[in-house]
Amino acid sequence: MTDARPAAVLVLAAGQGSRMKSATAKVLHRMCGRTLLGHVLSAVEPLKPERTLIVVGGAAQPEVERFVNKAAPSADVVVQAPARGTGHAARTAAEALPDLEGTVLVMHGDTPLFTTATLTAVLARHEETRAAATMLTAVMPDPGNYGRVTRDADGHVTGVVEERDATDVQRQINEICTGVYAFDAAALRASLAELTPHNAQQEEYLTDVIAGLVASSAVVASVVADDWRETLGVNDRAQLATARRIMRDRIVAHWMAEGVTVTDPETTWMGVNVRLEPDVTLHQNTQLHGATVIRSGAVVGPDCTLTDTVVGASATVVKSHCVGAEIGADASVGPYSYLRPGTRLGAGGKIGAFVETKNAEIGSQTKVPHLTYVGDATIGADANIGAGTVFVNYDGVDKHHTTVGDAAFVGSGSMLVAPREIGAGAYVAAGSAVTEDVPAGAIGIGRARQRTILGWVLRRRAGTKSAEAARAAGAEGTMESPSPPRSSTDDPRQGSEP
Ligand code: UD1
Ligand code: CA
Repeated sequence: MTDARPAAVLVLAAGQGSRMKSATAKVLHRMCGRTLLGHVLSAVEPLKPERTLIVVGGAAQPEVERFVNKAAPSADVVVQAPARGTGHAARTAAEALPDLEGTVLVMHGDTPLFTTATLTAVLARHEETRAAATMLTAVMPDPGNYGRVTRDADGHVTGVVEERDATDVQRQINEICTGVYAFDAAALRASLAELTPHNAQQEEYLTDVIAGLVASSAVVASVVADDWRETLGVNDRAQLATARRIMRDRIVAHWMAEGVTVTDPETTWMGVNVRLEPDVTLHQNTQLHGATVIRSGAVVGPDCTLTDTVVGASATVVKSHCVGAEIGADASVGPYSYLRPGTRLGAGGKIGAFVETKNAEIGSQTKVPHLTYVGDATIGADANIGAGTVFVNYDGVDKHHTTVGDAAFVGSGSMLVAPREIGAGAYVAAGSAVTEDVPAGAIGIGRARQRTILGWVLRRRAGTKSAEAARAAGAEGTMESPSPPRSSTDDPRQGSEP
């Protein structure tokens, strides 16, 4: 290995990216939790270059500049205007470093799959050969529209010819230029000065520097990449999808090697900032985004999307969508639940089927098993929230908080109208609209008393299947009991209390 710390790294990111047909700069398109340029910068970072320059330009310039300032504040932005090719971009950057000496690593902002190890290998070869330039090449099964590397009879690199400018014979070459080069700074400056835009695209090609150096009898070395997949560039959406799959495979393989079971790697997606512990199991169709953390023994999936969510040890999450949630150890979530930001489910707790939660702290062993909305609430430990309960947190203008104490029991179908407090061990009768606080140990019954009108169906729904069934069940006999006065309020749907 080498300690060949480059004097500078130049990242070219000023192209229009027109093949993406996007309002977003190409290098800011995302895959696996990072922008394309972010992936490049994270491969470069461990090289500890003295300077990192990122060439930006075109309509996307402000957007890319903002990204660089935030993601890599120690890097400098150089503006290329107008964009006249990769050679012109490199020249613009080199002019910003007129006194630079030593090794310059040049690469593109749209090649997100390079590993630090590969870049280090290029720098090591460059140092070892004392070349003016060392180019990273790759042998591709389908070289598409990459620049082709030409070599002489002895195998020495003679130059790079762009696909558009290549002859049919040259197009058969499957060794391509990856866009990664190590240069001696002075040699780079000198040869960039010689570039001309005499080619199919009327641009200054950085690739022409290679033939220029060869012509001046400078030493040009090359390294062939071990894995051509690492060298793929992203020019359009199809290539973005290909690159994303490769990055996904790499991340998933890494976690499997760390002791994670992935039942279906093909349908499991995760970003670079996800952290998993050994003996996690991920079932098919699971997507893990952002800073999601899953602790040992937890089982996630099938069909889960977790963003910035922490899943505790041995917890289970099935067919659910969680954003900014914290799920305690041994807790269970799903199927079909939606945990929104600020949800914290305690150890051994349960958020069952068709439950939505937001800003909800739910204590350990507490169960919210079915069909419930918990918004802006604090629920203690060992409580039970019955099916169909709604924490009515919004009055149309403001949000309000509800607190439910330890071991409270909220009956099914209750509306807890916030701001409300249900005390420890308190009960709420099923079907209550709770508009007053319920103190510890009390029961709150917030519903109309039931009224039963015997024989009503036989009288008012005569001839229907219901009346028939009622008659068969002997309902006629019940009509002998004193019946309430028959009036227009006899229809219970009119709802007035007697
Ligand atoms: C380029 C190479 C090609 C190589 C391929 C590897 C040239 C002429 N061609 O082709 O040989 O096989 O990369 O991926 O170098 N950029 C600027 N300013 C410009 C033009 C481009 O900064 O004026 C940047 C782009 O933002 C991009 C990178 O340079 O990040 C490469 O440009 P792109 O147009 O994608 O070149 P390719 O056609 O992929
Ligand atoms: Ca490209």
